[in-house]
Amino acid sequence: MIRSPLMTVMVAAVRKAGRSLVRDFGEVENLQVSMKGPADFVSNADRKAERILQEELTKARPNFGFILEEGGDIDGADESHRWIIDPLDGTTNFLHGIPLFAVSVGLARDGVPVAGVIYNPITDEMYIAEKGAGAFLNDRRIRVAARRSLSESVISCGLPHMGRGDFARFGREYAAIAPRVSGLRRTGAAALDLAWVAAGRFDGFWERGLSPWDMAAGIVIVREAGGYVSDLDDGDKMLAKGDIIVGNEIIRRDLLAMLRKA
Ligand code: IPD
Ligand code: CA
Ligand code: CA
Ligand code: CA
Repeated sequence: MIRSPLMTVMVAAVRKAGRSLVRDFGEVENLQVSMKGPADFVSNADRKAERILQEELTKARPNFGFILEEGGDIDGADESHRWIIDPLDGTTNFLHGIPLFAVSVGLARDGVPVAGVIYNPITDEMYIAEKGAGAFLNDRRIRVAARRSLSESVISCGLPHMGRGDFARFGREYAAIAPRVSGLRRTGAAALDLAWVAAGRFDGFWERGLSPWDMAAGIVIVREAGGYVSDLDDGDKMLAKGDIIVGNEIIRRDLLAMLRKA
């Protein structure tokens, strides 16, 4: 594959942030951890990785703005381009020593995600996509799974948790979906859920209550892998609403129909 200059910059920045996370993961007991809300943690590992991404991307594209999970929004001279960054997706996993987390960097043009990189530094898996150029995992083309029936599918989902979400509704959704699929999973890292759908590992994924940085990169990667992406009202306001459902055309449609009935 031929990588664009922009993608080369994104991949290098994400790799550098990933190295910082791996170093901190090795000494996770020494990190300073604070709480942003109930069951919502942040550590100096998150902040260090975010600083690396911000520095590297600013060097390469000094005019672009940012939406940073930890640092907030920063306007750039170029009003149409914004990096949307989750320096450490899966912080709770990370802080528990669970090796399931990722760096996620999306680029939005006029609010629409057009390029994305998701990197799992533990497995050294780099998922990349640019609009119109296909999706790749470590330079090999990836596609969403081709399964046509939910009964053969492994579906990932988010879960409501302390301080967030509608437990009764999730109970109804679980009761509707779990008996009809091959397996239901919860990784704790939404960016990886999206990357794994793009790679055909999961057949589908849905979650509510997400933030733009959890989804921006993954939206491009899933779409470029031939997948379908929408919000839970079947529209395309994922970033504004914070909910998302993805899969191939059939699985996304059928899963959404079941969730709406539940
Ligand atoms: C979280 C993860 C998790 C999802 C949460 C997110 P963070 O991101 O993506 O899977 O369920 O809603 O906040 O805080 O670890 O970057
Ligand atoms: Ca967080
Ligand atoms: Ca996240
Ligand atoms: Ca995060």
